[in-house]
Amino acid sequence: MTNPARIELDGQSVELPVVVGTEGEKAVDISSLRDVSGYITLDDGYGNTGSCTSKITFIDGEKGILRYRGIPIEQLAGQSTFIETAYLLIYGRLPHAKELQRFSDLLTLHENLHEDMKYHFEGFPSHAHPMAILSAMINASSCFYPGMEIGKPTAPYFDQHAARLISQVRTIAAFSYRKTRGLPIIYPKPANKYTANFLHMMFSDPYQDYELKPEVVRALDLIFLLHADHEQNCSTSTVRMVASSKANLMASAAAGVCALWGPLHGGANQAVIEMLEDIQRSGDDGSRFIQEAKDKRNGKRLMGFGHRVYKNHDPRAKIIRQTCNTLLKSLQIQDPLLDIAFRLEEAALKDDYFIERKLYPNVDFYSGIIMRAIGIPTELFTVIFAIGRMPGWIANFKEIMDESKTRIYRPRQIYMGPTLNSYVPMKDRG
Ligand code: CMC
Repeated sequence: MTNPARIELDGQSVELPVVVGTEGEKAVDISSLRDVSGYITLDDGYGNTGSCTSKITFIDGEKGILRYRGIPIEQLAGQSTFIETAYLLIYGRLPHAKELQRFSDLLTLHENLHEDMKYHFEGFPSHAHPMAILSAMINASSCFYPGMEIGKPTAPYFDQHAARLISQVRTIAAFSYRKTRGLPIIYPKPANKYTANFLHMMFSDPYQDYELKPEVVRALDLIFLLHADHEQNCSTSTVRMVASSKANLMASAAAGVCALWGPLHGGANQAVIEMLEDIQRSGDDGSRFIQEAKDKRNGKRLMGFGHRVYKNHDPRAKIIRQTCNTLLKSLQIQDPLLDIAFRLEEAALKDDYFIERKLYPNVDFYSGIIMRAIGIPTELFTVIFAIGRMPGWIANFKEIMDESKTRIYRPRQIYMGPTLNSYVPMKDRG
C-alpha cells in the first residue's frame, strides 16, 4: 500500500491517492482534487499527465525501453511479424498457431473493399494527399458494414471489424497510390501474406507481377511492426478520445489518421526526406542546416530528431538504422540522402544544443530512406506509419470499450479571456 500524496492548497491539506504501475511508475490520482479543493491541474501539452491506465505498451524514455504487452521491441523485431504482433497488441498475448491462422484468414476474407467504395476514389483530385483519402475512406467504410453502431468489442462483430480495418487500410493506401498516378487498380491476391500483398497491390501491373524480394518484404514488415503501438501519443490519445464518446471503431481510427498527419508526429517521415532533399539541393553538407535548426527565429527543426518521451535513445531508431544500411547494401542502392543523414546524425550527436536537450534520432530519421529504396513515394510515408499503427489504435479502442469504468474524455481548462462583457448592437460599435 503506497502512502497518499499530500498537498497544501490555501492552507488546507489535501490527501490524494497514489497509483503505482506494474513497472513501478507512480502517479498522483488527482481526479477528486477539484471536488475537495476547487483546484484543477494545468499541464500544457499533457507532458506530465497520465490520461489513462493501460496494459498494452510500456515505454521507459530515460532508458530507451519499448515493450508491447511486456515483450521487448528488439525481440519482436528479430523474431515476430507485423501480423503476429498485431494479434499480440489487440488480444493481449502471442497467438497459438491455430489462432494466428484464423486471424490471418480473417484478414484475407476482408481484404477487398466493398465494391461501391471504389467510386469514392473517383471524387478525389489527383493531387489529393493520401492521408486525406485514407481518413475519409476509413470513415466512409463504417457506412458499409453492420455493427458499427454497437461500439462494443464483445459484440460478435469486433473481430471482423478489427481484421477489416487492418486489412483494408493497406488496400485503400495502394488504391489511392495507383489512382493518383492514373494506374489501373490491382486487387489483392489471397495467397500473398500481408506485407507482400501490399507491395503487390502497389507495384504489380495487370500483365506482370511485381517481384517480391524477401529482404524488401521483411524491411517493410519491420517498419509496420516498429510503428504498431507507442502508448499515449497524439494520434492514439485522439483515438481514445473519440472512442470514449462510444463512437465506432472506424470513426475513431479515421480521427487517429488526421492526428497522425502533422509533421511533428507521423508526418515527420515525409518531412525528413524533404529536409534531406533541400539540404542536397542547396549543396550544404548538413552543417549549415544544423546551425539553422538551432536558431529558433527561422522555425526550422532537425526533422526525425527529438521525442517527447525518449531522452536517451529511441530503440526503434537503432533497429531501423541497421535495417536501412543492410537493405541498401543488399539492393546495391547508393542513396546520397543516406550519407547526408549519417553526417547530420554525427554532427548533432556531438553538438551541445542537441546534447543538452537530449535530442536523438527517432524512428522517422531513417525509415524514409528505406521506403525510398523500396520505391514508395514520399507523400505515402505517413500512410505507411498509419498502416503500422492500426493494431495499436485498435488495441486502445478495445481497452476503452472493455473498461466498464471509462468515462467520456473531457479535460478542463483555465479560462484567460475577457471577463463578463456585453453585446453591443452594430449601430453603436465605434
Ligand atoms: N530540432 C531542433 N530543436 C529541437 C528539436 C529538433 N528536432 N526538437 C526539439 N527541439 C528543441 C526545442 O526547440 C526546445 O528548445 P528550447 O528548450 O530551447 O525551447 C527543446 O528542444 C524541447 O522541445 P519541445 O518542442 O518542447 O519538445 P516536445 O517534447 O514538445 O516535442 C517533438 C517533441 C518530437 C515534437 C520535437 O522533438 C520535434 O519537433 N521533433 C522533430 C519532429 C519529429 O521528428 N517528430 C517525430 C517524432 S517520433 C514519431 C512519433 O512518434 O510521432
